[in-house]
Amino acid sequence: VAARFAPGPLAGKRVLLTAGPTREFLDPVRFISNPSTGKMGLALAHAARALGASVTVVLGPVGAVDRTGLEVVDVVSAEEMAREVLSRVAESDAFIATAAVSDWRPETRAPQKVKKGSIAGPETLKLVRTPDVLAEASRKVAGQARRPVLVGFAAETERVVEHAREKLERKALDAIVANDVTAPGAGFGTDTNRVTVLTRTGAPRELQGTKDAVARSILELLLVQRAASSV
Ligand code: CTP
Ligand code: CA
Repeated sequence: VAARFAPGPLAGKRVLLTAGPTREFLDPVRFISNPSTGKMGLALAHAARALGASVTVVLGPVGAVDRTGLEVVDVVSAEEMAREVLSRVAESDAFIATAAVSDWRPETRAPQKVKKGSIAGPETLKLVRTPDVLAEASRKVAGQARRPVLVGFAAETERVVEHAREKLERKALDAIVANDVTAPGAGFGTDTNRVTVLTRTGAPRELQGTKDAVARSILELLLVQRAASSV
């Protein structure tokens, strides 16, 4: 019974996450998006909560999900996600970016439904880059005395570790969780995952199992050990 009231190894820590896809609308009824369901991010959010952290999830559009014990900030586009993250990241102890953020958005959003007779074809859709939420968050806290632990995810289909390591460096992260989304038992919408955790100094660590079990192991590896060594 006493264990129910035990503070947990992440008590007093604030964990910020992004999860789910973003939607980039080209008119009121059409958008660019991806198949992310937010499962891995929500598994991490609940695992962090169970370890005692207070958890905020900036969440793109997903279906009904368990929000128990979490502060959830609902967003739609990459720009909204960036705004909500940048206003919170400096006060966080960890920022874990699991969202599948759309890298591009239509340059303009038509105020009314675009009629099929009105454009020559899909090749006329002009795209521009969205903000990189994680890279901007990393830049924002770069000079800070107590910088949050920054963790990225890398969804890859080839040369997984190489691509992930490049992102770890480019976005100045503490760790990146590399995910071969085409591997059996991994990727979008599945209940299981198989990942490789890369840090700046340590050896790569392979983790596999249910998304809940993988989430717990990621937090043990990246946050719990660190929290324990800093007290
Ligand atoms: N990310 C982000 N904002 C973006 C794009 C990516 O916050 N606009 C974050 C993701 O949440 C993830 C990490 O950056 O934690 C890597 O995302 P990924 O799509 O794998 O990498 P990109 O840098 O976008 O490169 P590419 O898609 O070309 O592989
Ligand atoms: Ca991307």
